[in-house]
Amino acid sequence: MEYNLGILISGNGSNMLNIIEATKKKLIKSKVATVISNNPMALGIKRASEKGVDVKIINQNQYSNIFDFENSLSNYLLKKKVDLICLAGFMKVLSKDFVKKWNNKIINIHPSLLPAFKGLNTHERAIRKKVKFSGCTVHFVNKNIDSGKIIDQELVRVLKSDDAGSLQKKILMKEHKLYIRVLKYLETKNE
Ligand code: GAR
Repeated sequence: MEYNLGILISGNGSNMLNIIEATKKKLIKSKVATVISNNPMALGIKRASEKGVDVKIINQNQYSNIFDFENSLSNYLLKKKVDLICLAGFMKVLSKDFVKKWNNKIINIHPSLLPAFKGLNTHERAIRKKVKFSGCTVHFVNKNIDSGKIIDQELVRVLKSDDAGSLQKKILMKEHKLYIRVLKYLETKNE
């Protein structure tokens, strides 16, 4: 199966860049149909444009409600014939309606070993709890935050010397590896 990926970002876009690189190096069969940012200031917008992929800003602040925002999002994804939405540092919670419309077609990367540390500030909370391991998870998106079916995870050992910053860096490197492994898995699973 070769997907037309729609990558949704809000910030730096390192996962997004890594997916673009994987398509260019043919590590995965899928293609990046579009990169969409809900944040007009996201660094990832410039980074994606430099790679020559389609980039679209859909700024939620320019819509009076979430339904209009998500309608624009859906319409653009349909226009680009996207069949798998990859959330990659997309920091807006999608509504139940949107998730239902794209049922089983949205995956997300989260910087913890779900179901531990759902939501924000995962690394700070992992350090505070003195966990021995943390990591990252790719999961299908359902109507509850960070709760959909887990596809795969990568583990990171948390050292006594780690702080939230060092843990974030270590996990981000694992995220890049994990996202590509998951895309490869989905491509072969749905062949
Ligand atoms: C990543 O660590 C990702 O797991 C996290 O945001 C970062 C984005 O980095 N996502 C979430 O916290 C989603 N709740 P990137 O923009 O460099 O890919």
